[in-house]
Amino acid sequence: MNKLEVKIGSLTLKNPVMTASGTFGYGDEYISLLDISKLGAIVTKTLTMEPRAGNPAPRIWELPYGMLNSIGLANIGVHRFISEKLPILRDYEATVIANIASADVAGYTEVIKILENEKGISAYELNVSCPNVEKEGMAFGADVETLLEVTRRCREAADKCLIVKLTPNVYDIGSLAQAAVEGGADALTVANTVLGMAVDIESRKPRIPSALAGYSGPGIKPVNLAKLYQVRKAVDVPLIGCGGIMNYRDALEYMITGAAAVQIGSGTYKNPRLAVEVIDDMERYLNEKGIDDIDNLIGTMK
Ligand code: FUM
Repeated sequence: MNKLEVKIGSLTLKNPVMTASGTFGYGDEYISLLDISKLGAIVTKTLTMEPRAGNPAPRIWELPYGMLNSIGLANIGVHRFISEKLPILRDYEATVIANIASADVAGYTEVIKILENEKGISAYELNVSCPNVEKEGMAFGADVETLLEVTRRCREAADKCLIVKLTPNVYDIGSLAQAAVEGGADALTVANTVLGMAVDIESRKPRIPSALAGYSGPGIKPVNLAKLYQVRKAVDVPLIGCGGIMNYRDALEYMITGAAAVQIGSGTYKNPRLAVEVIDDMERYLNEKGIDDIDNLIGTMK
């Protein structure tokens, strides 16, 4: 029996550890560093219909407890992903979740329709929470009615498992979670980056040209963990914890709070093999505690 196996909607994962969108490229870049088939899933860099160059540099700023990013959804576009990246991921038998964004609702469903018949895609994750673009950004994920609409339309287009990645940059995340579930989401990722910024006191300019950026890394773990706790109370679908996971203990905090799976993001920049190390450490923890199925740990916070 595989004691790490978890279910996310219709999807069965060999273990609960995924790589977060935007922090692991399209997966192929990491093949020389780790066995990508060992991962619970790879979530791709956000895919849009057309390729995007993204925001002007500098797009990254390192901080004591994490980093700011304002990439602006730079990506190769869904067609090049299918022709250049997906065959490699298939060859390596990786489990792939396609993260998707668009400037309008129709754009999300068009990308889904293109991916729907492609072998090697197991699920979609809707990026309705990017803080770094004007149109495709948080607007979709920060308004209950808009989120309901985009999720419903994507649900109609998708047979595959549908995951919605929520923004933490709202007061009432429970209502947004309920809207996504009402729209047909099978699972929710909690959550994307926290809105942040940094200023150079010599030039008096923001460190990132757009000023506002997404803050990730260990500094946001308590924030996103609290958001997951709130979402857990609001809805009854599988949750995927994301934000500041730097080791297996961080991952287990999310799972004990109620996440069925986790995503490793910025931690991969510090240690490219972090996700596989977390899988191994999780298994060791279960063995040491005499827990024969990770399901017996999920949501057991006292
Ligand atoms: O490319 C980006 O700026 C994506 C950011 C996000 O979704 O957090």
